[in-house]
Amino acid sequence: MTQLVAGHLNIQQDTIPELNPSYRLLLGPGPCNVDPRILRIASAPQLGHIDPEFFAILEETTQMLRWLFQTKNEMTLCVSGSGFSGAEAVLCNLLEEGDTIIVGSLGFFSGMIVDISQRAGAHVVNLETELGAPLEADVLEQAFRDHPGTKIFATAIAETSTGLLQPLEELERITHAHGALFVVDAVCGLGGVPMNVDEMKIDACYAGSQKSLGALPGLAPVTLNEQAVQVIKNRKKPVQSYYLDLQSLHRYWNGDHSYHHTACSNIVYGLREAVRIGM
Ligand SMILES: Cc1ncc(COP(=O)(O)O)c(C=O)c1O
Repeated sequence: MTQLVAGHLNIQQDTIPELNPSYRLLLGPGPCNVDPRILRIASAPQLGHIDPEFFAILEETTQMLRWLFQTKNEMTLCVSGSGFSGAEAVLCNLLEEGDTIIVGSLGFFSGMIVDISQRAGAHVVNLETELGAPLEADVLEQAFRDHPGTKIFATAIAETSTGLLQPLEELERITHAHGALFVVDAVCGLGGVPMNVDEMKIDACYAGSQKSLGALPGLAPVTLNEQAVQVIKNRKKPVQSYYLDLQSLHRYWNGDHSYHHTACSNIVYGLREAVRIGM
């Protein structure tokens, strides 16, 4: 960095010590302790976001993510951001003003799907469960009957705030019987509980790099199947968010690699290493 010409707020560099963060055993609902192999590769030389060598890494990482999600989905990539950036991307691309979404709110994190969807202009049917209790199939069935034309049902496979593992099989069957998309938050679940996106017939799924995957925070793996992609392609209006536009992000990760934003190569190396270690 060039020496900044300080104005009236002058701070002498030698008054600021080098950082020496404490070691913490991270076992809470935040990030986890990162394997030294991940930290090592994350400090490898940075590649520019439009370097062909980095494009090859993005494509290879996508293949590894497909393995991780157990999916053949073409639209598989990472959003540059934490888990909620994946949630916003999936929901804001699929939802349009006035659409109805039914949300299985199992606790704090899946409960945020309600807020995100409302901000996207959707009509939200909030099926809130008792803390620690799963969403029962008959409750979802009734909600679909009460709200015909619902576009999406969304919930989490693993609700971090209570430790709940939500059974999804019946919820998927009911969702598809009513012609809606089945969206799953796997921020905590991916890499931690058995997940097979194709077999579980999940239409759109988002995750986070820093939980069960054990990588650094800052990437949200997402995957959407062809039905979900068609919903995005058939939108009446463009996605309101430039940054979270999944079609542009998909082009950047796996298409013509046209510039969309400055992705950080080092955290991608780290995620790739985390997946590689887990293979
Ligand atoms: C199930 C679940 N969903 C969403 C999130 C939000 O992820 P982030 O804090 O990475 O944005 C979390 C974070 O703990 C989570 O556990």
